[in-house]
Amino acid sequence: MAREKIIIKNPAEIEGIRKSSRLAAETLDMIERYIEPGISTDELDHICNAFMIEHGARSACIDYLGNNRWGKGGYPKCTCISRNEVICHGIPNPDERLQDGDIVNIDVTTVLDGYFGDTSRTYLVGNVSAKKRKLVEVTEKAMYRGIEAIRPGGHIGDIGHAIMTYAEPLGYSVVREYTGHGTGVEFHEAPYIYHRAERGTGARIEPGMVFTVEPMINIGGYKTKLLDDDWTVKTQDGQPSAQFEHTILVTETGYEILTTTK
Ligand code: MF3
Ligand code: CO
Ligand code: CO
Repeated sequence: MAREKIIIKNPAEIEGIRKSSRLAAETLDMIERYIEPGISTDELDHICNAFMIEHGARSACIDYLGNNRWGKGGYPKCTCISRNEVICHGIPNPDERLQDGDIVNIDVTTVLDGYFGDTSRTYLVGNVSAKKRKLVEVTEKAMYRGIEAIRPGGHIGDIGHAIMTYAEPLGYSVVREYTGHGTGVEFHEAPYIYHRAERGTGARIEPGMVFTVEPMINIGGYKTKLLDDDWTVKTQDGQPSAQFEHTILVTETGYEILTTTK
């Protein structure tokens, strides 16, 4: 198969992606006050969906990969909500309620005027153990280490190298099968961003590229398992996993984080 082409975004596209990304970040700001023991992941999903629609957007996830060549149905919900040992793509469910001590990632991807913004955060629910809090801190920091490695003229592999060399010596493992990705004009575009990589490998980073950095970091081993619903990804050993994600624009001099409200 031909290597997919990396889309360099023009100024009009960048403006559109910036607006969509900001709305995605606003959605994560908005949902924070609802995160408490007892609320169901489906209720959280509905609140995010209503917020996006109120702001003229829709979720890129609803029906994503429907009618695909693997024959599985499209993604059924607005957000992905992944608790504790769920690594990513947890499906919101009315029977799944947040519990004191959980860590929970909410991942939102907005489509506004045809442009995509993709971001996630891991939230703490009530009293969280020191071990899980540390995992969440390390994961957020790992994402920023990756982002800080972005510079025009550098390589995509520099990002994964920065993440891996930060998280692994601290005793954590980095998930391998799920990657960051180009985004903005489509949901998932080239280049794919491995969160473990060697410096100087992969495509050259250029101004006008837009991609996500979204490491999933585990307390135990890196291995994953896909549940029978064909979406939910868990750690094989049942130990907790955390994730943070930003959509980044490469500029002439460095980068800009687009999925922020600051
Ligand atoms: N937002 C996820 C990502 O960061 C993708 C979710 S796809 C879905 O790439 F279909 F599961 F929603
Ligand atoms: Co993403
Ligand atoms: Co995402």
